[in-house]
Amino acid sequence: MSDQSTTSTRVEQPADDVGSGDPAVGTHTVDAETDEQLDESWVEYEFEDDAAISVSDLDVYYGDDHAIDDISMEIPEKSVTALIGPSGCGKSTFLRCLNRMNDRIDSARVEGTVEVGDENIYEGDTDLVQLRKRVGMVFQSPNPFPKSVRDNIAYGPRKHGDLNTGLLGRLLGNDDQQREDELVERCLRQSALWEEVSDRLDDNALGLSGGQQQRLCIARCLAVDPDVILMDEPASALDPVATAKIEDLIEELAEEYTVVVVTHNMQQAARISDQTAVFLTGGQLVEYDQTDKIFENPESDRVEDYVTGKFG
Ligand SMILES: Nc1ncnc2c1ncn2[C@@H]1O[C@H](COP(=O)(O)OP(=O)(O)OP(=O)(O)O)[C@@H](O)[C@H]1O
Ligand SMILES: [Mg+2]
Repeated sequence: MSDQSTTSTRVEQPADDVGSGDPAVGTHTVDAETDEQLDESWVEYEFEDDAAISVSDLDVYYGDDHAIDDISMEIPEKSVTALIGPSGCGKSTFLRCLNRMNDRIDSARVEGTVEVGDENIYEGDTDLVQLRKRVGMVFQSPNPFPKSVRDNIAYGPRKHGDLNTGLLGRLLGNDDQQREDELVERCLRQSALWEEVSDRLDDNALGLSGGQQQRLCIARCLAVDPDVILMDEPASALDPVATAKIEDLIEELAEEYTVVVVTHNMQQAARISDQTAVFLTGGQLVEYDQTDKIFENPESDRVEDYVTGKFG
């Protein structure tokens, strides 16, 4: 960590910088409410555990639009990290950088480094299939396959051959079907869904409720044995009861997995996360710290306004 006493205060958008009058020129900080000066120390969150993910100097462009502006942050393992901020500030874009989902967007250009464990995932020879097994993703709308509950979970391991270790298992009397049954049950239990669907394993997953579908998507993600689970507003389409189940589940998952969750729900971020990163307009990370600190005593006036609901 750099010596904070020498940390300079960055003035992100001095008046001279925007002298062209072109709103596309400049450093994309201003949300029209303030020209608050950012301080690098506000994002220097220190923690004792190992980092699961290290992001350095990350920029993302969609064509000429600068969506993520020079973000560096480390995400501690086996904990919940919340990403919050107003619509359009780049939360989903940032999340997608963590398993290279932005590769699927033609206009997206990513610069900088993202290390998952010890691997820089933007280096040329990264195996994207393996990466997305290690860093799974759950989206806002549940998107189970139009297949049975069982097949939703077993599909990935079958495809990757993880269940197909046949001979030794069969010699030990533990055949692939048994392994699959065990996997399906384990993942459904881990995602707090087993009690509700254990007698419906062969029914089509699209017949489940929205909240059950979302937990099934989490179970599907767990089935390929990830280290990190990315969630983009995983409960925003759900009712309060289903939301509470997802929140409980996220906290439980963080005992074994690293969870990074985008949410617009301040109470949810405050309830479930260990640390919170606040993005503001222009794709900047403005403050990153323990969740209590962010919600009770943030450094940035804009973050204070945002978390207390004055804007956003
Ligand atoms: N596929 C895309 N092509 C072009 N521009 C995009 C694309 N996806 C996002 N953007 C732009 O990048 C910026 C950040 O978008 P992003 O979806 O990451 O924001 P967000 O913080 O997730 O917003 P929300 O809270 O509404 O989901 C926005 O200006 C958006 O218009
Ligand atoms: Mg989003």
